[in-house]
Amino acid sequence: MNTDTNIDHEKVMALFGNVFNDVAGSIAIMMSYIGDQTGVYKAMDKLGSASVTAIAKEADVDERYLKEWLASNAGRGYVNFNPDSEEFSLSPEQAAVFAREGEPTCIQGLVQGVVGQFVKEDVAIDVFKTGRGRPWGEHHECCFCGTERFFRPAYAGHLLEEWIPAMDGVQEKLKKGAKVADIGCGLGTSSMLMAEEFPNSTIHAYDFHGPSIDEAKKRAAEKGLTNLEFYVSDASNIPNNGYDLACIFDAWHDMGDPVGIAKGIKDILTDNGTFMVVEPMALDGLANNIANNPSSSMFYGFGTLICVPASRAQPVGLGLGPQAGPKKLMELLSSAGFEKVNLAAKTASNLVFQAT
Ligand SMILES: C[S@@+](CC[C@H](N)C(=O)[O-])C[C@H]1O[C@@H](n2cnc3c(N)ncnc32)[C@H](O)[C@@H]1O
Repeated sequence: MNTDTNIDHEKVMALFGNVFNDVAGSIAIMMSYIGDQTGVYKAMDKLGSASVTAIAKEADVDERYLKEWLASNAGRGYVNFNPDSEEFSLSPEQAAVFAREGEPTCIQGLVQGVVGQFVKEDVAIDVFKTGRGRPWGEHHECCFCGTERFFRPAYAGHLLEEWIPAMDGVQEKLKKGAKVADIGCGLGTSSMLMAEEFPNSTIHAYDFHGPSIDEAKKRAAEKGLTNLEFYVSDASNIPNNGYDLACIFDAWHDMGDPVGIAKGIKDILTDNGTFMVVEPMALDGLANNIANNPSSSMFYGFGTLICVPASRAQPVGLGLGPQAGPKKLMELLSSAGFEKVNLAAKTASNLVFQAT
């Protein structure tokens, strides 16, 4: 028991202020989610400055609840209120963050992912207490769509223009026509980006979560992509080989046996094939990462709720977590037998490793 009874009240108040701010923020997340799912932000973006009545009509929601919701949003700076006209509006910046799907600044995927965790909080507590694994498929479906929406802007902004060009000789091979495996592909965003950009290449996308593959197939069909095939398959048992490029996007740390899986991937690559591993941004060393990586707290939270339990639900159950840091990740890739391993690219949200 901590016997130090000397409480510094200023420090208590500062801490209380931080927590109060987080509590207000967590309610704001729920408000944001409601606005996203009901189309209120999109209606506001369309209308410009407008009365509560006009916004309610455009979004087809209840006017009284909307009034309360708008006031809550205005208090957090998510929307603007003009006391003279009594109208509410979104600035271009607020619209970019809350209303415009597909813009790199749109935060709604992350919001959706967070809300998905609160939906099954009883499961999270049970997992935490018992130490049992929690398979990816046991999460609320918000987790799958939210993850895809959260990661999509980073992939759309960096994969084709920075990450693939950073791999030795890979872009040239993909342009000419190469065979690619996207493993742990989720809803297939990265697979579709590569299939669209490199029509001479064939992309095989694998994930062991059947509902994600069903949704990915639907999305790819809507785009009319013919050089992309999806398979329900565990990463440890990929049924094809001869790949020039194998990639894992934000999923390697979720796997129970990342080293064993990397060894298997070495076997399905051609002799001079490349393994590309994209992982969330992290710094080496726990203290360094906590102090100097502004996203670390969020990612350790996701690690507690999603990534470590997902890994522990699989054979070996290493529980690497999403913040292992570049040194550890490169050591693991080397221990899988790759001769050359390097950090090929780095963006605000991701680390990109090349192993050959
Ligand atoms: C955080 S999501 C990332 C999905 C996708 N790569 C993306 O970036 O949007 C992790 C994905 O890895 C998949 N996954 C985890 N372990 C797997 C395994 N052993 N074999 C195949 N897929 C796996 C999950 O089903 C999930 O779709």
